[in-house]
Amino acid sequence: MDLFDKCRKYKAARIARAKGYYPYFIPIDSGQGTQVTVKGKRLIMIGSNNYLGLVSHPKVVAAAHAALEKYGAGCTGSRFLNGTLDIHEQLETELARFMHKEAALVFSTGFQTNQGTISCLVGKSDIVITDRSDHASIVDGCRLSFGRVKKYRHNDMDDLERVLKTIGDGPGKLIITDGVFSMEGDIANLPKIVELGKKYKAGIMVDDAHSIGVLGPDGNGTAAHFGLVDQVDIIMGTFSKSLVSIGGFIAASSPVIDYIKHHSRALIFSASMPPASVAAVRVALEITKSEPQRRQRLWKNTEKMRQGFQAMGYNTGTSETPIIPVVIGEDIKTFSFWKSLYKNGIFANPVITPAVPPGQALIRTSYMATHTDQELDTVLDVFRRVGKEMEIIP
Ligand SMILES: Cc1ncc(COP(=O)(O)O)c(C=O)c1O
Repeated sequence: MDLFDKCRKYKAARIARAKGYYPYFIPIDSGQGTQVTVKGKRLIMIGSNNYLGLVSHPKVVAAAHAALEKYGAGCTGSRFLNGTLDIHEQLETELARFMHKEAALVFSTGFQTNQGTISCLVGKSDIVITDRSDHASIVDGCRLSFGRVKKYRHNDMDDLERVLKTIGDGPGKLIITDGVFSMEGDIANLPKIVELGKKYKAGIMVDDAHSIGVLGPDGNGTAAHFGLVDQVDIIMGTFSKSLVSIGGFIAASSPVIDYIKHHSRALIFSASMPPASVAAVRVALEITKSEPQRRQRLWKNTEKMRQGFQAMGYNTGTSETPIIPVVIGEDIKTFSFWKSLYKNGIFANPVITPAVPPGQALIRTSYMATHTDQELDTVLDVFRRVGKEMEIIP
């Protein structure tokens, strides 16, 4: 048995490249604003998670520069040993205050945050209960834990209760949900999850990767949006979306944070966030709080696009946030739709099976506070033209 046989047999990417519709790993040769360039070609970006448009904000960039000058390029070690800087701790204090929790802990990526938190908290006698559409990092955190995993149908509260009923009083229980689902763009039914958590004595963890900067009175996430911060045990967030860098955090009570600090392998055995990223996040967080007009503009752009797509006859699924999927159907059709968008100057992301059910392949679009009306009108125009040509809309 040759372990590498599967690599030689893997042809899907090669075939797509040969046919000219391979949509992944496209090298962008500009900054990531509302427009980007690829080999000199200018494209309107509707495929990023730069919700507040802060990625190239002069204050963010200046803070990153200054930290690079002061601390150098990296930390060369884990938070546990030589990799904790004063600015890591300052960021944690600021995040705890922002999220209205006792304490916060910063990891080097959002993926590691979920993986490292869930795997160390969910022990042999515990059960973790997840939404079927939860992010891969949650799935992997569950896999790495020693506990049992049970899943409920996406945002289906009857199914969550059915699952909870099957678990007795004995095991420790943790329900984990995305706050905003990264493909569907819908919001978790957190009020009901909290009610069920209380009824069945389960802890609750919310992944706010796509909610920070987007939902809540200060952009402080899903629990704040519903007024339920006190009812959620752990809030996770990333720095790779609204906060425009790399890294992630959890916010929770002090004992929970202290336990994770001393047990999470993803934290202890991995180098800490580089100083320039920490500094960029701190400034992006400050702007998130002090410029609510960005969030207002983001939502205005979101409504314009959702209404625009729906008026044309597109299916935007259950989306209620700046993530707006446009369902096309078959995988191949979705690739050629993507190709036409690209040729017409739009950068978007195709999502095919198994990430979505067969026949439900889609173009994931997402919006920024900084998109101009003119850019958005161009996007709608291209979707109208391509959709009609391909007979996806009437
Ligand atoms: C819901 C969700 N959780 C976690 C992550 C992982 O975050 P990061 O990309 O910052 O590692 C992502 C990123 O795609 C996400 O969408």
